[in-house]
Amino acid sequence: MFDRNKPYNDLPNLPIDEKFIDKDILKQWGLASRALAELNRNILRIPNPNMLINTIALQEAQSSTAIENIFTTQDELYKAVSDSLKEQEANPSTKEVLRYREALWEGFKKVKESNSINIEVIATIFQTIKKTSQGIRPPQSQVVIKRGESELRSGEIIYTPPRGEGIIEDKLDNLIGFLNEEKTFDPLLKMAIAHYQFEAIQPFTDGNGRTGRIINLLYLVSQNLISHPVLYLSKYIIENKDDYYFALSGVTQRSSWKPWIQYMLKAVLTTSLNTNQIIDDILNQMEATYNYAKPKLKWYSLELNQALFSQPYIKQKIIGEVINVKSRTTLTKYVKQLIQLGILSAKEDGREVFYVNNDLIRILQG
Ligand SMILES: Nc1ncnc2c1ncn2[C@@H]1O[C@H](COP(=O)(O)OP(=O)(O)O)[C@@H](O)[C@H]1O
Ligand SMILES: [Mg+2]
Repeated sequence: MFDRNKPYNDLPNLPIDEKFIDKDILKQWGLASRALAELNRNILRIPNPNMLINTIALQEAQSSTAIENIFTTQDELYKAVSDSLKEQEANPSTKEVLRYREALWEGFKKVKESNSINIEVIATIFQTIKKTSQGIRPPQSQVVIKRGESELRSGEIIYTPPRGEGIIEDKLDNLIGFLNEEKTFDPLLKMAIAHYQFEAIQPFTDGNGRTGRIINLLYLVSQNLISHPVLYLSKYIIENKDDYYFALSGVTQRSSWKPWIQYMLKAVLTTSLNTNQIIDDILNQMEATYNYAKPKLKWYSLELNQALFSQPYIKQKIIGEVINVKSRTTLTKYVKQLIQLGILSAKEDGREVFYVNNDLIRILQG
C-alpha cells in the first residue's frame, strides 16, 4: 500500500506491462509522432538553427522554471540575455532560468557524444541547473514533495520518494537501462513512461522537475526524433499543471498509466504544433523584415537580421559588433534609422537603452 508520508521504496521497476498501451493511446501516439516529425523537418529550414533555437530554449527555460514557482519576467530575462554583463547582474530567479538553458545545451552536447541518456548526462543537467557539485541525494536526506504555497492545504506532503542505501542508484540504473535498451516500446512512449519514473525516484535534493523535463527533450534527441532540443513542452505543462501533478500521482496511487501517457502525448502533440507555428512565424517575419529593410538601408545585412531575431532585446554595442561599425556616431545614426523604420524600438532603463524587436516578442508570446 502506498503511503504518501513514507518513502515509496516499492516503486516498481520498468518496463510497465504492455497491456497499458491500448488503442486510444496508439491513436494519440500516431498524431503526436507525426506532428513531431513535421517539427523536425521544419528545423531544417532555419538558416542558423542554434541561434533561433536559443530563443525558443529561453522560453522553455522560463516556463519550466516557473513550474517550480521560480518566476522572472520576460523583461528581466530579455535584458539579461542582451549582453553578458547584464547576465551577471541578473536577479537569482533570472539566473536560475539562464542556468536551465545552459543545462539544456550542456546536456545536448553530452548526448551528441554518447547518443544515450546516461548517469553522466543526468548529473551534468542537474549540476548546471543548481550550480552545484552535489550528486545523487544521500540516504539520510529527507526529501519530500509538498503542495505549493498557493494551493489548498499548502505544505502538506503529497509524495515521499524512495530512500535508503543504494536504492536510488538501483532505480536509476533500471531507468537508464529501460531508456537505452528496451525495444518493445516506441521512444515517444518511453519518454512518457520514463518521465514518471524519474520524477518518482526524485534522485536529487532539488531540481528533479527541471532535470526530468530536460531529459525528455534530450532523450528524443538521442533517439533521433528531433535534431535539436527545440520542443517547448514546459509551456503546455505550466498551462496544465494541476493535471500534470494529478496524472503523476495517479500512476503511483492507482497504477493508472493511461491518463499519464495520454497527458504526455497530448503535450507532445500540442507543443509540436505550437513550436512549428513559432518557427514558421519567425522565419516569415525574418524574411519580411529583411526585404523591407534592405532596399532602404544599404548597410543592413543578413547577419544583422539574424542577430535581431536571436534575442528580443539587443544593445547598440552588439549591433555594432555584428555589422562591424566602430564609429559611435555612425552606429547611433544606423540605430536611429532602424527605429524610424519601426524595426526596433528603444526602451530606456535608467541610463541604459535596450533596442526591442517587437515582432519577435509578439511571436514568442503567441
Ligand atoms: N506525485 C508526484 N509523484 C512524482 N513526481 C511528482 C509528483 N508531483 C510532482 N512531481 C514532480 O516533482 C517535481 C518537483 O520536484 P523538485 O525537485 O522540486 O524539482 P524542481 O526544483 O525542478 O522544482 C515536479 O515538477 C514534478 O515533475
Ligand atoms: Mg524545487
